[in-house]
Amino acid sequence: MVRFAVPLCLGGAVMASATAASSSSYIQYSTVKGYFLQDNNSANATTFDYTASNFGLINQTYPSDSHDAASLTQWERFSHLVWSLNANAPKNVEYKVLFLGRHGEGYHNAAESYYGTPAWNCYWSLLQGNESVTWADAHLTKKGISQALKANAFWLSRIQTQKIPTPQSYYVSPLSRCLATANLTFGGLPLPANHPFLPTVKEKLREGISEHTCDHRSNKTYIHHTFPSWNIEPGFTEYDELWTGVTSESDSAQDLRSKQVLDDIFSTDCSTWLSFTSHSGEIASILRVLGHRSFC
Ligand SMILES: *[C@@H]1O[C@H](CO)[C@@H](O)[C@H](O)[C@H]1NC(C)=O
Ligand SMILES: *[C@@H]1O[C@H](CO)[C@@H](O)[C@H](O)[C@H]1NC(C)=O
Ligand SMILES: *[C@@H]1O[C@H](CO)[C@@H](O)[C@H](O)[C@H]1NC(C)=O
Ligand SMILES: *[C@@H]1O[C@H](CO)[C@@H](O)[C@H](O)[C@H]1NC(C)=O
Ligand SMILES: *[C@@H]1O[C@H](CO)[C@@H](O)[C@H](O)[C@H]1NC(C)=O
Ligand SMILES: *[C@@H]1O[C@H](CO)[C@@H](O)[C@H](O)[C@H]1NC(C)=O
Repeated sequence: MVRFAVPLCLGGAVMASATAASSSSYIQYSTVKGYFLQDNNSANATTFDYTASNFGLINQTYPSDSHDAASLTQWERFSHLVWSLNANAPKNVEYKVLFLGRHGEGYHNAAESYYGTPAWNCYWSLLQGNESVTWADAHLTKKGISQALKANAFWLSRIQTQKIPTPQSYYVSPLSRCLATANLTFGGLPLPANHPFLPTVKEKLREGISEHTCDHRSNKTYIHHTFPSWNIEPGFTEYDELWTGVTSESDSAQDLRSKQVLDDIFSTDCSTWLSFTSHSGEIASILRVLGHRSFC
């Protein structure tokens, strides 16, 4: 499903808290507001630039700031705040920070712009490609590659100047455009040895499933062959069993599986700092589940 042709509409961070009701395993999510520009209703998603705004982190002091706070960066102090929130939280509450990155421009995005959305939706999107390019499980265009490299340069600058906490875990949609975007975004960065860039491919982080061939993922053998060291979650099928080419997923069905993938991650991964590389429609769905305003 293609909702917007502006890639990396969200290269930002969201702080979420998860509360598990003590009597059941049901997890309730909420967005912790006031730390990132993106969750403020007056922020404009169209003009938001994560590279001009420190990923959206608001400059401010926190009650958890230490005596030497003046010598620390905003991200160092925020990291201490998140640690302190978790240290003081009730047993069934947990705070996590999610870096949500959209893939760079894919051939399907370029083709939608080229043919126009009406002709794209009713005809071209259903084909594998045209005479010159393929958009089934679309790969990144040159522009898409440079967008991912821009994210890579920005991460490097945050590590060097802000001492930003880098992700402790990386999760990626199985579609080729996200695999390539994650690889370029995090490749070659000076990451801590105990938290290397070793992503896990998660089926349920894929884009909303439409009839469009760009939403049809490649087989598991191909994904494994392309990124041999990466993890592929248990149960991931060889072939795409969800895309049919004739039916499409409703928003409520998509939100249900977004909650399932969050539940899966929140209940098995005790990391605080998480990276998701996904799609505009899927990030929009994750934001709905987290109770975050629309920001795509
Ligand atoms: C949201 O942004 C507006 C305009 O920049 C600002 O006046 C307001 O205080 C912000 N709200 C919160 C909750 O940070
Ligand atoms: C956001 O910015 C875009 C581009 O400048 C503008 O067209 C749009 O009206 C703005 N939206 C809001 C809600 O201000
Ligand atoms: C936040 O602080 C940094 C460094 O002190 C400064 O460069 C930046 O312009 C500030 N950002 C905002 C939005 O005030
Ligand atoms: C195929 O689509 C691309 C847009 O992605 C366009 O640039 C190209 O000219 C098209 N090829 C043909 C043969 O129409
Ligand atoms: C992954 O990224 C590296 C750069 O960090 C690049 O050299 C390599 O070709 C990429 N791998 C694939 C399969 O795209
Ligand atoms: C898996 O996909 C690749 C790339 O599309 C293809 O070349 C290969 O034949 C497929 N393998 C199987 C077992 O279907």
